[in-house]
Amino acid sequence: MAWGTARKLLFHLDPERAHALAAGALRVLGSAGGVLRPRPDASLRVTCMGLAFDSPLGMAAGFDKGEVLVRGLHALGFGHVEVGTITPRPQAGNPRPRLFRLPEHRALINRMGFNNEGTEACGHRLAALPREGRGIVGVNVGKNKDTPNERAVDDYLAAIDALHPWADYLVVNLSSPNTPGLRALQEREPLERLLSACVGRAAPLRKPLLVKLAPDLSPEALDEAVDVAIASGASGVIATNTTIQRPGAVASHPRATEAGGLSGAPLGPLALESLRQAYRRAAGRIPIVGVGGVMDAHDAYARIRAGASLVQVYTGLVYGGPRFPARVLGGIADRLRRDGFRSVDEAVGADHR
Ligand SMILES: Cc1cc2nc3c(=O)[nH]c(=O)nc-3n(C[C@H](O)[C@H](O)[C@H](O)COP(=O)(O)O)c2cc1C
Repeated sequence: MAWGTARKLLFHLDPERAHALAAGALRVLGSAGGVLRPRPDASLRVTCMGLAFDSPLGMAAGFDKGEVLVRGLHALGFGHVEVGTITPRPQAGNPRPRLFRLPEHRALINRMGFNNEGTEACGHRLAALPREGRGIVGVNVGKNKDTPNERAVDDYLAAIDALHPWADYLVVNLSSPNTPGLRALQEREPLERLLSACVGRAAPLRKPLLVKLAPDLSPEALDEAVDVAIASGASGVIATNTTIQRPGAVASHPRATEAGGLSGAPLGPLALESLRQAYRRAAGRIPIVGVGGVMDAHDAYARIRAGASLVQVYTGLVYGGPRFPARVLGGIADRLRRDGFRSVDEAVGADHR
């Protein structure tokens, strides 16, 4: 069935029901052992944080909240999958409905609230994942809703302790708008405390640890957060999570007043600007992962030129369908050739030179 028709049918369903169907299809695809996987062009290989990615394109956190759909997503062409956000204890998340489509804007609003089965269940599934045919696996961790911010560090450390054996890299998520108070942990003092503790735990395990930031930080706060990330020994910054803003025409959409984070096309300009700024501030000391509103190959390549060593997507896959990763990867390879770059590495940050 053509994607246009399949999408029409899926979009008649409640978004979480459609997600469950997609997850089922990915499980089947994953168990087929990735035989259908498009082989990414050699120019797309990226070495970042000491890890070998076969392409710069990854599945952003939140699509696979611990179900471990890694093999299916890898088979679609993703070079890495970020599982999570996982909290130490299971939690139900916010009441439904909590995920909304804004098709006119190729956007989503979500207030899922870290619904996940906790580190123990996720750890069992990750442990069962074969090493072959999985690409790079990141694990994104968070705090439980009922853990006060003063004790947040205990939750992050507990999640790192439980899940690091199966993670190629770890992410400290401080930027979901759907856990009350979480984003305050991006401020200098709590950020310093949290990151130095988490890096202190991850570094002896030789696991790169990144911090994921919001697109709603002021330019000063973003610079400060990048400085703290570097000073704490973090291995990278992910820019960005969803936005609580409703930019441009989205503001007049009937769903715009739903509480939650906006993702997809309207987030693009904000996330791109955050990426540019984080790249300039980091000045090559740590890599930046670009995410937010990447809807096609043009957007993905623009992120690389703006400074992204890796690019992640979520909403683009929802609107673009299962061939979206292969299309984006083909488009990046074409653009690298067009601009005379032999590798993604050569193109990272090209706009700043
Ligand atoms: C339904 C949904 C759930 C998400 N859950 C998480 C999450 O648990 N942890 C996280 O770090 N980001 C989460 N995100 C944010 C995405 O990882 C990504 O940063 C954001 O959607 C912007 O990228 P996009 O425009 O390509 O979707 C979620 C996004 C969506 C749409």
